Amino acid sequence: MSLINQTPAWKALEQHWGQVKGIAMRDLFASDPGRAQRLRLSAGGLDLDYSKNLITEQTRSLLLNLAETADLSGWIGRLFAGESINNTEQRAVLHIALRNRSNRPILVDGRDVMPLVNEVLDRMESFVALVRSGEWRGFQGQPIRDIVNIGIGGSNLGPKMVCTALGAYGSDELRVHFVSNVDGTHLVETLRDLDPARTLFIVASKTFTTQETMTNANSARDWLLAASRDPAAVAKHFVAVSTSAERVSAFGIDTQNMFGFWDWVGGRYSLWSAIGLPIALAVGYDRFVELLEGAFAMDEHFRTTPLAENMPVVLGLIGLWYANFGGARTHAVLPYDQYLRLLPAYLQQGDMESNGKGVTRGGVAVDYTTGPVVWGEPGTDGQHAFFQLIHQGTQLIPADFIGAIRSHNEMGDHHLKLMANFFAQTEALMRGRTTEEALAEMSEAGVPEERAQLLARHRTFPGSRPTNSILMERLTPYTLGALIALYEHRIFVQGVLWGINSFDQWGVELGKQLAGVILDELREGRVWADHDPSTRALLEAFIRGRSA
Ligand code: F6P
Repeated sequence: MSLINQTPAWKALEQHWGQVKGIAMRDLFASDPGRAQRLRLSAGGLDLDYSKNLITEQTRSLLLNLAETADLSGWIGRLFAGESINNTEQRAVLHIALRNRSNRPILVDGRDVMPLVNEVLDRMESFVALVRSGEWRGFQGQPIRDIVNIGIGGSNLGPKMVCTALGAYGSDELRVHFVSNVDGTHLVETLRDLDPARTLFIVASKTFTTQETMTNANSARDWLLAASRDPAAVAKHFVAVSTSAERVSAFGIDTQNMFGFWDWVGGRYSLWSAIGLPIALAVGYDRFVELLEGAFAMDEHFRTTPLAENMPVVLGLIGLWYANFGGARTHAVLPYDQYLRLLPAYLQQGDMESNGKGVTRGGVAVDYTTGPVVWGEPGTDGQHAFFQLIHQGTQLIPADFIGAIRSHNEMGDHHLKLMANFFAQTEALMRGRTTEEALAEMSEAGVPEERAQLLARHRTFPGSRPTNSILMERLTPYTLGALIALYEHRIFVQGVLWGINSFDQWGVELGKQLAGVILDELREGRVWADHDPSTRALLEAFIRGRSA
């Protein structure tokens, strides 16, 4: 198949951007009173208002046409049918099976995977009950108080983000910590105040080969053994989550204490698997199931809803509209909810590791933009930092605003103030302020004419800056599950449109390989491999500094 940007559907959108880019978004609302009502969707407890976008009815229909050209419906079908759509790794992509609460059979190589999924869920439930009830005892016979998850990338970001997001459901009796960085500081600082006799480690690694995780796991075991002086303590203080029983066993963890998952679960899509064990420990197994149920509701919406009314599809197409036709290079995720503060970091891996690709599924280099840089901070903090650039800078930065109607921590009018800012920012970004409006405001405020003339251009806001508003009644395990699944499917939609494989990650390999060679050199204190002059000089300086 030819590249998507060679198709008539793409060319039509290119031309259409030329017609739409100069339209003021406020005029779209003025000329169409029903716009806000029409451009909204609901699914999985989430309400999406996407009316504050630079899109017309024609844009919508051209984007949907592009989706049809890319056979998006066919790809959604292939995803849910368990086909090997991760073609470079020859794997199915079945995070949707992990939260398939209908238990509808999902076949991989002719075998239903649901019994496997349910068996691991049952084991997680029993284990969580033992730990949370205090029945699971450490080497001195005490219950566990601290869980330390050791993992990185998808084996860290997902469970960490969810545990943070569901902070309102946790308890101080069982505290969950996350160690990911190979920088020893991370482990040292995390363990500083913990009692080895009451600490349980989860070593979470799909491959069980990741350097950072294995290094931290070994050091954690040393820490435990230094206190227990008994190798038998490892069985009481270490459990593993992995796809490799062999490597878990080689590390010294009894496979009785291992929770498995499968190669058809991508690392960055794995929080729904046993990788979610810290979540279930932190908030309870039933709440973990509610998280799965929320994701399942979004899966069902995505699987069965026509493209035009399909929330992940609509969001994916809008993102592509700005990236490929409007020249946007980034996408801001702005949760107006302190509990969601790690969502942008989580989505950075989800989106950028998935769609940061430069060749199609067939290996042809693309000459159009693929995955954007994803970034963001919670509101209102971001407003006092980088919002200036979104309002008046020269780049187009599409942004998602995410908030809840009710807070878990209602206190005075904090929540009203928080959400007043959410709504005000999206309104300001859409409306902007014309120079005439700026002048009129200053005149009313008694600013002298000369000064007003000077300031008018600075106080002008171009407006027409696109935002999506996602609102939920409350941030619960269910709505969070739906929200995460929404973004997962949005990523998939865009990957399909760009013709790339969103489920491999070859781009992380080269650095890993080189680091292996350099580590040997640093250990030996001698640079012997072939390096560019800059890297060689840096290595030599480092080695000199270490030996001084
Ligand atoms: O290096 C990237 C990566 O492979 C991610 O895709 C993955 O989530 C992470 O490393 C951790 O991998 P593992 O779970 O196998 O330790």
